[in-house]
Amino acid sequence: MQIVPIASYTVQIGSIEETLNPLLQALQYSTLFVLVDEQTEIHCLPRIRHLVEGAQLIRIPSGEEAKNIQVCQQIWQQLLDGHADRKSLVINLGGGVIGDMGGFCAGTFKRGIPFIQIPTTLLSQVDASVGGKLGIDFQHIKNCIGLFRDPLAVLVDPAFCLTLPDRQIASGMIEIFKHGLLNDLELYRDLLRLDALDQVLQTGYLARAINVKRSVVEEDPYEAGWRKILNLGHTLGHGVESYFLDSASPLLHGEAVAIGLIGELYISHRCFGFPQDELDAVVRFIKRWYPDVIIPLEARGPILGIMAQDKKNERDQLHFSLLKKPGEPLIDCIIEPELVEEAITYYNNQLSVPV
Ligand SMILES: NC(=O)c1ccc[n+]([C@@H]2O[C@H](COP(=O)([O-])OP(=O)(O)OC[C@H]3O[C@@H](n4cnc5c(N)ncnc54)[C@H](O)[C@@H]3O)[C@@H](O)[C@H]2O)c1
Repeated sequence: MQIVPIASYTVQIGSIEETLNPLLQALQYSTLFVLVDEQTEIHCLPRIRHLVEGAQLIRIPSGEEAKNIQVCQQIWQQLLDGHADRKSLVINLGGGVIGDMGGFCAGTFKRGIPFIQIPTTLLSQVDASVGGKLGIDFQHIKNCIGLFRDPLAVLVDPAFCLTLPDRQIASGMIEIFKHGLLNDLELYRDLLRLDALDQVLQTGYLARAINVKRSVVEEDPYEAGWRKILNLGHTLGHGVESYFLDSASPLLHGEAVAIGLIGELYISHRCFGFPQDELDAVVRFIKRWYPDVIIPLEARGPILGIMAQDKKNERDQLHFSLLKKPGEPLIDCIIEPELVEEAITYYNNQLSVPV
C-alpha cells in the first residue's frame, strides 16, 4: 500500500480490502451510509459489501445530469430518514460525480458529517478526489455551488478501473499526463512510451500523479494563485467540451482536455517558446490514444464565447495557464482570441498529419 498524506487526511493507494477494513474498525460512527449510482452498485459495491454490513444504501442516477440540487435533496432526505447525525459516516463509492456531490451533501448536512471517498474511475482517483473541492452544477454551470472540505480519507484501488470502458480510462489518463507535464518529467516521459492503455493503471503512476496534485493544493488550497496551473489544457478544453455537449456525440471531459492541451501547448510554443519537439511528442501521444475530433469553423465563435465566461478571466481578457517547458508552468497568461483561433487551426491540421 502507498500512502500520500495531504493536509489533514491521507490518500491510501492499494487494495480496498487492505485500506477500508482497518479504517472502519478504527472509526467510531453511529450510522453508516454508502452512496452509489446504478453503475457502481453493480461493478463496485460487491467488492466492499462484506466490509460495510448494516450500512444504509443511497442510490442515485449516474452521470453529470444527476449532479444537481434535486438529487442532493434525495440524498439529504435519505440521510434524515436514516437518522444521520454528526457521528454518522458517509462513503462515496463512485466517480467524480458521486465524490463531488456526495461530499457536498455530507459536508453540508447538519453543518457537516464525516465522509470517505472511494473513487472508482481513473479521473476521480488521480484528480477529482484530491484537493477538497466539492459541489454540484446549477443552471447548466458546472460546479457552480460548492465548498472546500476534506474527507476523512481517500481510498484508491486501481482494480476498480478494470470495469471501466477504455474511453473512460483514456479520459482519466490525460490528467495523469498533465500532472506529469506540470511537475513530474519522469512520469510524463513514461507515459509518452506507453504501449497499452491498461499499463496506466499501475499504482506507481497513480501515486505520482496524486503526489503532483498534493504538492500544488497544499501550497494553494483555495486556488488563490498557483493552483491555477492545474487548469493547463482546461481553458480551451472546457470550451470544446461545452460546445460538443449538446451534439450527437458529446466528448468525455478528458477527451476535450486532450484537444485543449494541444491548443494550449501550441499557444505556449508561440508565446513562451515551449519546445517544438515536446509539442510534437504531445501531439503524437494524443493522436495515439484519443479520437480525432475536427473542430468545425462555425464552432470557433461559440467556443470563444464559452471561454469568455471562464472563472480565471479578468477585465474581459482571456487568462490561460501555460507551460514554458515541461516542468515550468505559468499562470495568468493573457492571450488574444485571434491566437486561440490559430491554435484551433493548428490542432485541426495535426489530425491530417500521419503519426
Ligand atoms: N473536485 C474536483 O477537484 C474535480 C476535479 C476533476 C473533475 N471533477 C468532477 O468529476 C466529474 C467527472 O468524474 P468522472 O469522469 O469520474 O465521471 P462520472 O462520475 O460521471 O463517472 C463516469 C461513469 O462511469 C461510471 N462508473 C464509475 N465507476 C465505475 C466503475 N468502476 N466501473 C464501471 N463504471 C463506473 C459512472 O457510473 C458513470 O456512468 C465531473 O463532474 C467533474 O466536474 C471534480
